[in-house]
Amino acid sequence: MRVDFFQCFFAATRFLVERLQAVNNFVTNLMHILVIGLYGCVLSLCFRLFSQKIEQDEEKHKKQKKYRRELLHLEQRIIRAFYKYKEYIMRPKITIVGAGFVGSTAAHWIAAKELGDIVLIDIVEGIPQGKGLDLLEASPIEGFDLHITGTNEYAETANSDVIVVTSGAPRKPGMSREDLIKINANITGDCISKAAPLSPNAVIIMVNNPLDTMAYLAKQVSGFPKNRVVGQAGVLDSARYRTFIAQEAGVSVEDVQAMLMGGHGDEMVPLTRFTTIGGIPVTEFISPERLNAIVDRARKGGGEIVNLLKTGSAYYAPSAATVQMVEAVLRDKKRVIPCAAYLEGEYGLSDIYFGVPVVLGAGGVEKVLELPLNADELAQVQKSAEVVKSSTEALKAM
Ligand SMILES: NC(=O)c1ccc[n+]([C@@H]2O[C@H](COP(=O)([O-])OP(=O)(O)OC[C@H]3O[C@@H](n4cnc5c(N)ncnc54)[C@H](O)[C@@H]3O)[C@@H](O)[C@H]2O)c1
Repeated sequence: MRVDFFQCFFAATRFLVERLQAVNNFVTNLMHILVIGLYGCVLSLCFRLFSQKIEQDEEKHKKQKKYRRELLHLEQRIIRAFYKYKEYIMRPKITIVGAGFVGSTAAHWIAAKELGDIVLIDIVEGIPQGKGLDLLEASPIEGFDLHITGTNEYAETANSDVIVVTSGAPRKPGMSREDLIKINANITGDCISKAAPLSPNAVIIMVNNPLDTMAYLAKQVSGFPKNRVVGQAGVLDSARYRTFIAQEAGVSVEDVQAMLMGGHGDEMVPLTRFTTIGGIPVTEFISPERLNAIVDRARKGGGEIVNLLKTGSAYYAPSAATVQMVEAVLRDKKRVIPCAAYLEGEYGLSDIYFGVPVVLGAGGVEKVLELPLNADELAQVQKSAEVVKSSTEALKAM
């Protein structure tokens, strides 16, 4: 009778430990740990009682030894499972939807910075798996310890801390803005409706174009609060602007600080008044004419790369900009950067996603900063907002 009881007991405990090792879900693991802990206590109590009662003959001794070995083995497995669990709860999980140029390069930057485990998901079979494995195989050389998964199944993305959405077609010659909105709205709707319910606490970072409109759609489809859906555009636009300023002034890019606002690319509003080099106004280094030329080049920065590449669009700088935002969220850095945020009255704008200075941290957009704009800057912002509004209206009409 006693032997049967112990055999059942070991089998049940083994089963639980195996489940613990297989499932990487916070709540499930926590429940398993509690149950196993309880089992462990009961097990050791039974073992003590049993040991006291057991007769001292040879046969019983053998059994006792066997049980002790089994107990020791289980204990080691529980400890290993515990460490694996600890690893999972300590390392954030980042899902990247779209394993194209921007998505896979973002995965590369994330791995290099060891920001967290990566799930790369795409609609095309083999692409995320191949790119994920390729990146993972770079880990012994580059020395990053991460789990990198390539998949076509959203189940693998469950419990992500950040979801980056890069799935979408770029605008092709002859394609109208509305055509692009339609194509990418279908893709975005599909991806967000599958990814968001599985990661209800994630911060969503939108990257696909038209950026402000897709961010608006992502908020609608996910039902997430406004602070947890944010778009990447301003970090890239300001990086381009900062690069050209550093080149012109002959200084380090690290010392060029700039803030800009507005829609992505052609609609951006650079705030030269808020641009400094090492804390010194940029106008002390660069003439107004040259500064205007730089602003113009930064506005058309995306097109400049497209013209050079002939096929495809920029991806190194866009993905680096996105990963700066991922890092700000995961490490709660509270970066003051331009992002597409949902506005409710700020700058006189409502119910649109628009590029504004924000504080980006663990809570996503923790604050929208309202700068004291002069009449000229405000007029530029309003003009840019008209373009973004018309895109958003086109989306609503679909
Ligand atoms: N916001 C920015 O600053 C910025 C900068 C550059 C590019 N972009 C935009 O980012 C997007 C991606 O650019 P890219 O160069 O990586 O394009 P890409 O074509 O290389 O990659 C897009 C990927 O999305 C995948 N995809 C399409 N439909 C999908 C779906 N329903 N589910 C999952 N995956 C799907 C495709 O298979 C492809 O692998 C484009 O919309 C582009 O305009 C934005």
